[in-house]
Amino acid sequence: MKDEPFAGQDEDAAPKFVLSTIFAEDNLFAGLRFKAHHVFISSMQVILCLQPRLIKKGAEADIYLTTWAGRKAISKIRSPKPYRHVELDRTIRKQRTIREANFMSIAKKAGIESPYVYFVDPKKAEIIMEFIEGRNVKDVITPALCREVGRYSALLHSINIVHGDLTTSNFIIDKKRLVLLDFGLSYYSERTEDVATDLRLIKEVLASAHIRVRGAYERFVEGYVSIAGKKKTVRILENVREIEQRGRYARVT
Ligand SMILES: Nc1ncnc2c1ncn2[C@@H]1O[C@H](COP(=O)(O)OP(=O)(O)OP(=O)(O)O)[C@@H](O)[C@H]1O
Ligand SMILES: [Mg+2]
Repeated sequence: MKDEPFAGQDEDAAPKFVLSTIFAEDNLFAGLRFKAHHVFISSMQVILCLQPRLIKKGAEADIYLTTWAGRKAISKIRSPKPYRHVELDRTIRKQRTIREANFMSIAKKAGIESPYVYFVDPKKAEIIMEFIEGRNVKDVITPALCREVGRYSALLHSINIVHGDLTTSNFIIDKKRLVLLDFGLSYYSERTEDVATDLRLIKEVLASAHIRVRGAYERFVEGYVSIAGKKKTVRILENVREIEQRGRYARVT
């Protein structure tokens, strides 16, 4: 795990700090968009969060459709993994939950759309967030979308955030906007090598899962260049090639 500024402190110090920041920021953004002053907090609203319905079982988490303050919402709960040591599992789920809620908020600063965080329960490893009504980019991929995914990736990297799981299934497109999800493996890094790992993964996804879109990766790179510029992009792409070569070398030895 990278960037653990609260290491060694009371184990709830980091969650407390992060969560208060998220709530303040997301409330501000939500306020601008919905003209609402309080998106969460009231205990009555917790009670009114009726009958969550499981809509997806991800590799990491269970995704429930629920309601929050009268709006459709998603509850993402990282369920315990039986193959992990119990204590380690608890720590990982808690950290990823806080990490995800935190980066989901910070990403908005770079102009990226991400779900608004309504509520976080680190102990339960649960995030309640805005429900994004739309289609998964994986299912509706087009050249224009590939370009937009590239643009988003560069915006995220422009504030030194590496997503950590940059795949097309972590993007949703609704009528007017692209939304990036799933920040549980995100971290801060300025290293070209780290940024390149995001590009290597999306390159692989675009090449294998989306053969039907011709030039998908090229469109992605076009979008990336439009934000990062040619020089920086070329440097990162060189690093992607290096990582790929290392992978090939490791496979034949
Ligand atoms: N806020 C949201 N609004 C609408 N759909 C969502 C939202 N969050 C998650 N989903 C849906 O649930 C799926 C899984 O969510 P997410 O990627 O956050 O969890 P995960 O456990 O990491 O899953 P995976 O292993 O598939 O990446 C997403 O691909 C998306 O279809
Ligand atoms: Mg995901």
